[in-house]
Amino acid sequence: MSSSASAPLAYRVLPSDHARSPEQRTAILSGDLGFGRTFTDHMVSIQWDKAQGWHDARVHAYGPLSLDPAAAVLHYGQEIFEGIKAYRHADGSIWTFRPEANGERLQRSAARLTLPQLPVAEFVESLRQLIAVDHAWVPSAPESSLYFRPFMIATEAFLGVRPAQAAGYHVIASPAGAYFHGGVKPVSIWLSEDYARAAKGGTGAAKCGGNYAASLLPQQEAHANGCSQVLFLDPVEGKYLEELGGMNVFLVYRDGRLVTPALSGSILEGITRSSILQLARDRGMAVEERQVAIDEWKAGVASGDITEVFACGTAAVVTPIGQLKGKGFSVGDLNAPAGEVTMAIRKELTDIQYGRAPDRHGWLVRLY
Ligand code: PLP
Ligand code: COI
Repeated sequence: MSSSASAPLAYRVLPSDHARSPEQRTAILSGDLGFGRTFTDHMVSIQWDKAQGWHDARVHAYGPLSLDPAAAVLHYGQEIFEGIKAYRHADGSIWTFRPEANGERLQRSAARLTLPQLPVAEFVESLRQLIAVDHAWVPSAPESSLYFRPFMIATEAFLGVRPAQAAGYHVIASPAGAYFHGGVKPVSIWLSEDYARAAKGGTGAAKCGGNYAASLLPQQEAHANGCSQVLFLDPVEGKYLEELGGMNVFLVYRDGRLVTPALSGSILEGITRSSILQLARDRGMAVEERQVAIDEWKAGVASGDITEVFACGTAAVVTPIGQLKGKGFSVGDLNAPAGEVTMAIRKELTDIQYGRAPDRHGWLVRLY
């Protein structure tokens, strides 16, 4: 069952023999979902090797993967992933948001990590195949969604350090509520001064597991200092904002400008980020993608020139940042209400995603 680039993969659908009952599913979906804690009954798997290309596409029961202990991913971290959601609209239909952009980013990540490129159409099809069996797992509570986690791992059993010649692509899915405990309310951010997330010429612009492994220690430092996320600075001068551990960052100025760090080669190019830039331009806001010094943030909040700061990403959607803390300083007020511009942008984006506002950019793709 090998496939050339143009022939769509044929899927085998192998229903789970231990799927949760409708009552069990309803109990899970009506509880506090949080983020990434429960998973649907099925998953997608597609195999790749150098000789056959992509093959053996299956939808099958969610469950453990079997890996050779010498699989390259376990030794050299050759892994990439994506994050994308399915949204249930009021009429029951299920949609996703800009999946081609995630498929293209997965290809860029694959290129950086020398993993094989899954055709973008196959990426979108993998989401559709999973939803065809697990559509009942897409929650309908306000602002809830089904979070897909597509990922690719190097499976070749070989300890030489070179690009693996076999890989597996999988998609799992998790019903999701708010990423941050406490729902949509301002969070505090810890400035990491001792650790960088990415290096010049490194893998920061790729969505690979290693970047997140490197962020865990500073993230732990953030938690120890009462903050929910960590902010990283540029790895060269340690002066300019890059992004948070799992989100991009925006600043709103008193004069109406919306500013976000320019893509530096070490920042992940967020699809939420690019959508917000578009929505802000549509509103006639002045938008700047440029270097932003950490001192500009501190001074701007102190002087009132910067009126709002927010984080954005698929998991976090748009989350107000109330306070920035670091060694020996704190700016902002965690108890101040979420900013108006932040919440208006959040509303506009989620209204499109949930089908409450016209999809004027053609961002939505129907899955079911
Ligand atoms: N930056 C990092 C490090 C992330 O992990 C994410 C989340 O995927 C983002 C930014 C935001 O990207 P997106 O909006 O595509 O989810
Ligand atoms: C996402 O938003 O999809 C991410 O991958 C971020 C992660 C920290 C949950």
